[in-house]
Parts: sequence; structure tokens; C-alpha cells
Amino acid sequence: MADLAQVIFMPSGKRGRFAVGTPVLSAARQLGVDLDSVCGGRGICSRCQVTPGSGHFAKLGLTVGPGALSPWNAVEERYRQKRGLAPGRRLGCQARIEADVVIDVPPESQLHRQVVRKQATARAMVMDPAVRLFLVAVAEPDMHAPSGDLERLLLALKETWDISGLSVDLAILSRLQPVLRQGNWQVTVAVHDDGSAAPRILDIWPGFHEGPLYGLAIDLGSTTIAAHLCDLRDGAVRASGGVMNPQIRFGEDLMSRVSYAMMNPGGAAEMTAAVRDGLDTLVAGLVAEAGIAARDVVEAVLVCNPVMHHLLLGIDPVELGQAPFALATSGALRLAAAELGLRSVNPGARLHVLPCIAGHVGADAAAVALSEAPEASPDLVLVVDVGTNAEILLGSRTHGVLACSSPTGPAFEGAQISSGQRAAPGAIEAVRIDPQTGEPRFRVIGCDLWSDEPGFAAATAATGVTGICGSGIIEAVAEMRMAGLLDASGRIGSAAATGSPRCEAEGRTHAYLLHDASAGGGPRITVTQNDIRAIQLAKSALYAGARLLMDRLGVDRVDRVVLAGAFGAHISPLHAMVLGMIPDAPLDRVTSAGNAAGTGARMALCSRAARAEVAAMVTRIVKIETAVEPAFQAHFVAANALPHASDPFPELARAVTLPAPDFGAAAQSGRRRRRGG
Ligand code: FES
Repeated sequence: MADLAQVIFMPSGKRGRFAVGTPVLSAARQLGVDLDSVCGGRGICSRCQVTPGSGHFAKLGLTVGPGALSPWNAVEERYRQKRGLAPGRRLGCQARIEADVVIDVPPESQLHRQVVRKQATARAMVMDPAVRLFLVAVAEPDMHAPSGDLERLLLALKETWDISGLSVDLAILSRLQPVLRQGNWQVTVAVHDDGSAAPRILDIWPGFHEGPLYGLAIDLGSTTIAAHLCDLRDGAVRASGGVMNPQIRFGEDLMSRVSYAMMNPGGAAEMTAAVRDGLDTLVAGLVAEAGIAARDVVEAVLVCNPVMHHLLLGIDPVELGQAPFALATSGALRLAAAELGLRSVNPGARLHVLPCIAGHVGADAAAVALSEAPEASPDLVLVVDVGTNAEILLGSRTHGVLACSSPTGPAFEGAQISSGQRAAPGAIEAVRIDPQTGEPRFRVIGCDLWSDEPGFAAATAATGVTGICGSGIIEAVAEMRMAGLLDASGRIGSAAATGSPRCEAEGRTHAYLLHDASAGGGPRITVTQNDIRAIQLAKSALYAGARLLMDRLGVDRVDRVVLAGAFGAHISPLHAMVLGMIPDAPLDRVTSAGNAAGTGARMALCSRAARAEVAAMVTRIVKIETAVEPAFQAHFVAANALPHASDPFPELARAVTLPAPDFGAAAQSGRRRRRGG
């Protein structure tokens, strides 16, 4: 009877007794300890690194002596010389158990390591990527036992890694024989297995291919396409970027693109080609920026709203333009990335499109739900992803989750605004107005100085002050309201009524002069009455969507609000509340989640379990279709006022006292409001 030794693996705590001489890697496998390996124990990949403990472990009831593991061997020495090995580390496939031992498995050697997101709501995520590398030695052909090279490869994968049922594309088969011979019958195989269908051989390299492998998390928005290039070992982002969606030329918002498709034969196909091009250009840029081989990019997870979803897939979105807004498909999609024109990745790369929730609430909202987890929230949380189409989620652990989308339009992105522009250097992004004087100060993108600070002119000379972007117009309107230049109905007061010469007459209404660079040949940036109306329409659509969900849950308050989306990160809670974009809530409980859809896509990229979780979650989310809800219009009209015609805002009132001017026609000409009194 072979001598047995007690082995305890940390941090899992798994323990067992093994025959002396058993490799640490084998013991780990038998206990189901998460210890990575690509080369299958050949001392090539170093993914099996472990740190043996020594001394007395009172809690574990074990004492580890100096000879607990076999001595350092030639394979480890070769690896240390060639690639280096941190002091105290051993290769688990080489070190053999000689006596009782405690083995620490460092995070980088764990396949399913925990990754904690640095977000508003820190949540652990387990790495469980769908694509892994496996090194195998394949038996050479034998005339006496004829068999195909592929069959012997599949046998090696079965014997070494217990992987079976693999499907193999022709592209792989056509390259198999030269690769096997080039690798001298040792090859590294990338296997894609997302648990939904038969696993497949995605690529094959001669010899040992260390990788790492990469994946893409893509948030395909109607205005911008954003993507993260992630290391599939630990989820780390190697490159991030975004491009404008080339479809903008076909229409600023979703419905204008749907109507373009309706009105122009071949219009949908044009938009499909444009967005696929844009996406591949973005990916090519990220791959170049990260300095990696496109071939190592093996998977992508994509989220988007339903119209983008259909257009990307080459499905005409016209059905989404009319009730019942039927999706061609709502489930998750598993495709070859090449089918969608993604060329800057591995030719065999896979694409996973998250499921849509329904109608106009897409995979991006599903990704936000995955990232922000309202379903697990102890309190009632409202999550709004503001874009040209706003996705709104409301829920908690006890209420479950409701979702809707609301057509806010492009005003929040500076479109349809007289001095509006996209967020770019030179754009006014923050505004403050002195309630005493009515004088403004502002900041532009690309400069941290306020416009009334010394050095501002010099610092902005290169770009100039060019216009006002989404976050700027939201702040400008809210500041005008707080300074009494704008009444609750959204009317701008006259110079006479407000006491500010910056409130200029413009036709039969008024405009507020924010910045005048015309003397130097620059623009005059004003906020006009039409701009106010455009913002009122956009914010009312958002508010009405949220109210519909609150009605459905029978609540008139929410406990907290999460502003998601790249844009959400730039909205100040106070200004959003003064506008009445969101329902009343304590200001310190209005937080930004950044690009939550992108984060959700990243989570799904890094974890097959997260994909299963979101697929189940979307079936539990209750969908409200704003386009057919009779109450939407009433909520929309009531939300036109700033912040609202009737809903109470007690939390806002704690933070700011809104003046109550009335700039109806009568008030404009008659009484003059004395400033500072
Ligand atoms: S398993 Fe590859 S070096 Fe140990």
C-alpha cells in the first residue's frame, strides 16, 4: 500500500490524501480544485503555478516539512531560465507530493478566478470564458492502424482533457495536416464551448501557443459604437474605444432609420453594410492599439437596442416601426463573427448577441440589468440608460423588474439644439448661472478651467468655444430655472422681466446668451426657446417612461436612481432632478454607473454563467410597451413642466429652492424683477 499524504489546497480549502509521488496538478484535478493548465502537464505553459506552504498550520491541523514536495526538477529549471518563475513558485504539473502539504493556488493560476468590478455596486464575477486553449500530443499515423489525423486529434483531446463531441469547420480541417506536422504532432487547440451547443474547434496552432486569447465586449448604440478588448485570462481591458455609428447619416434616431428603411428599397441593407464596416474598423483599431494578433481575438459579445440588432443582422427593421413591434428573434444569438463582416479577428471567432427583452427594449437593456442587477437590489432602484432611446428598468428583490424604452430623441446629445454639437473639445459641457446677476460661467471639453478663471481664453484658444453638448444643455436649462430666468412652464423671461440683459428678444420669444465670441469671429452661443422645448420633450419622454413603471408597481417613490450610459456619467444629479428628467429621490442616492451596457457585455464575455443568468433574467423582466400605454401621454404632458406640473419633489426641495417666476405674456412687459432683492 503506497504511502499517503494529506494535501490541502487554498484558497478553496479542498483536501484529500494522495499517494506519495502524485503530481500536484493531478491531485488538484481529482479534488476539482481550480488549477489552470494549457500544456497538459508538459511544463511549457506555466499556468499551473502553485506556492507550497511550510510550517505549522494550526487551523488546518497540518505541519508542512521542507520535503513536502519533490525537489525542483530540470523542467522547472528550464522554464525558470527561459521565462522566469517567481520565488517560492512551483509548477504544479512537475512538483510531486512527498508528504503532508498545503498548496496555495494564486489567482492567476485559477481559471475561474473572481474578478471584482470597481463600480458603484461592487460585484464579484467569476472568470469562465467560453474559449480555452489546450495543448495535446497527437499520435502519428500508423499504416497498420489507419485513422484520420482529425480522429487522432479528437482522441488526444478526449484522452488528455476529457473533451468530446467537438465540431470542426472545414477551415480548420483544411489546415490540420500541415499544422500537425509543423508542430511535430504537438498542437495547441482553441476550443469554444459556451454550453449552448456542441463545443467546436475554433483554431489550431503548431506546438505550444501560449496566447493569451482575447475577446470583445461591444455596445452597439444608435449614436456611438463602443468596445472593450479584454484578456480572457482575467477580464482585464487591453484597449477600449468608440466610433460614431456610421448609420447616423441615415437618421439621427432609431425611428428615422426605420423610416429610411421603409422609404428606400435597399435602405436597410445600406445601413447594415455601414454599421458592419464601422464595427470592423473600430475592432481593427483596438487590435492595433493593443499590439496583439487579430488571430488571438476569438470571441465577441455584443449588446444593442432592437433596431440596431436587426440592422446589424441584416434583418429589415420595419416590423419594429409598427405595433405590435415584433422582433424577428429575441433570444440570444450565437454566430460566426465572420457572418457579420468582422474581419479583424480570428477567422473562426464566435459572436454572442445577448437576448433582447422585447419590442423596443433590447440586448443593451438586458446587459444593463446584468450589470446593475436591480433584481437583486434590497431597495427599489430605477436604472435609466439615457441615449437617443432611453432604456428604463425599475425593480428590487421584492418587486421583480419592469422594463420599458422611451423615445427621448437626440436632444440630450446636442442634436436639434440651436448651438448644439456632439461631445468634442470646445463644446460647453458644464454651466453655472449666478442667480443674483444672471451671469454664466462654463467649462468646455478639453479644459478644466471655468470660463471666468484666468487663463481660460489662452487654454481654449486652439479649439475655441464651439457650441454646447448634451450635458451642457441640461445644465444650462436647469441653471436658468434655478436662476429664475426660466419659469416652470419652460418660458424664458425677457430682459425686463428677469433683469438680465442676456435674455434677448428673439422673434416672439426670448433666448439666453451664454457666450458671445462673434467679436473674434467665433459663434454666439444662445439657449433659445426652441432648445428649451426640445429638452422638455426629451426629458418628459424619459420621466413618463419611469412613471409608467412606477404606476405598474403601485409606488410613487423610488429609493435610488442609477444613471447608466456613457452620457449618464456626465449628467449631474442635481441638474437632472431640477429638469425633472428623473423622479424625486435623495440626491446622494442618484449615482452614475458609466457604460453599464458595456460592463454587462464584458461580464457576459468573461463568464458563460453570466450569459445563462441574463438569458434567464430577461424571461422574468416584465416589459411595458410605452407606445401603446394610454397613461404615457398623460405622464408625458405633466412632465413637461420643470421639474413637474404636479409630482412632488421634496428631496429636491431640500437641496434647492426653485424661484417661481411666471413669464406669461402679461408678466414679460409689465413688472421688472429686481435682482439681488
Ligand atoms: S500544466 Fe503547463 S506547465 Fe504545468
